[in-house]
Amino acid sequence: MRKTNFSYIDDSLCFGEKSIRLADFAKASGPVYLYDLALIRSRFLEMQQAFPGAKLYYAMKANSHPDVMRTLKAAGAGADVVSGGEICRALESGFEPGDIVYSGVGKTEKEIREALTLGIFQINVESVPELERIGRLGREMKKKARVALRLNPDVSIQTHPYIATGLAENKFGMELKEVPRLTEILKTSSDSLELVGVSLHLGSQMLEFGGLEEALRLLKPVYRELAAQFPTLKKFDAGGGLGILYHEDDLVKESEALRVYAKVIRDELADLGAELQLEPGRWLVGHAGVLLTQVQYVKQTSHRCFVIVDSGMNHLIRPALYEAHHRLLPLQKNPQAPLKKVDVVGPICESADFFAKERELPELKEGEWLAVADTGAYGFSMANVYNLQDLPTEIPIS
Ligand SMILES: Cc1ncc(COP(=O)(O)O)c(C=O)c1O
Repeated sequence: MRKTNFSYIDDSLCFGEKSIRLADFAKASGPVYLYDLALIRSRFLEMQQAFPGAKLYYAMKANSHPDVMRTLKAAGAGADVVSGGEICRALESGFEPGDIVYSGVGKTEKEIREALTLGIFQINVESVPELERIGRLGREMKKKARVALRLNPDVSIQTHPYIATGLAENKFGMELKEVPRLTEILKTSSDSLELVGVSLHLGSQMLEFGGLEEALRLLKPVYRELAAQFPTLKKFDAGGGLGILYHEDDLVKESEALRVYAKVIRDELADLGAELQLEPGRWLVGHAGVLLTQVQYVKQTSHRCFVIVDSGMNHLIRPALYEAHHRLLPLQKNPQAPLKKVDVVGPICESADFFAKERELPELKEGEWLAVADTGAYGFSMANVYNLQDLPTEIPIS
């Protein structure tokens, strides 16, 4: 297996399974996201091997490019969606309604009706009123909704607070004390609701699994109790959340983290007799994307040196939103260039518009290009047109 994702060949930065030369994609037409589909395929197969027999539903919020979706569908993935728009994209990319798990706290009546009409495989329910709404709409439409209960175990994981989802203070999932009420609704609406699963998602960018272990332990007795009452309950959905390394280029180290993660889940659920589902996003696609951006100005003030590039928080919001770290690699290596501490910032009218602050980089000049590494997940999918800047181009590499 390849250890790294980037390398310099003749001082020119190369990327991905096929070591493509990034300079060939650095064009005056503006910033570009490149996606290495071969890496996505091999990451999927690696995760599938770590979880034999489990069904992996790709959390398409991470990257919904149609070619990324088609690649994962062809490799055997289902899709985890959170909106009518994502259902549409998944279907357009070749997924069947039976391949789709539908999560999200704010499903509208229109979206639920569409999901029921299509026969979406599983709806992960996030609140009591949502379960009531699905039951009512199912009855009206004479459809039976296959539902999983997303439970919130009130367990913390080590991640940024904005991407933690398994605490009582978060809007996601349902408290364990609501289970009796949920059971009552499921029983009184048995004509329109079929309980098929219990689900859990503690948050994203998880690299330590003590919280996950604790959460699985808390949910197992609940699963057993429900399974005793609802023979249709067969699935345990352990969500997504496995993190990737943003500070280093070490795919082997990540495979080790995957093994530990898989062991925690498999060991904890071994005696449950449930069919395992997972909803990975970032781990499958994060390293497979790179964002190329061109230096427009180098602005020296009495306080800082700003390298102003043509992409920013409009194309990649993670640094601004989560203070996330992304490695910045010059496309052309210049061993003679002195190192300099700079802020790499974008064109957007916000001081949060930065890719890096006080980062030591080889001195950069107007016209040079930088690669923003590991931007395949939550990059373009969170991009926006603030300041009416264009969206970046996306180029999948097969
Ligand atoms: C319900 C659900 N499942 C799966 C995921 C995917 O998480 P990740 O990309 O960290 O694997 C998310 C992301 O936040 C989510 O909200």
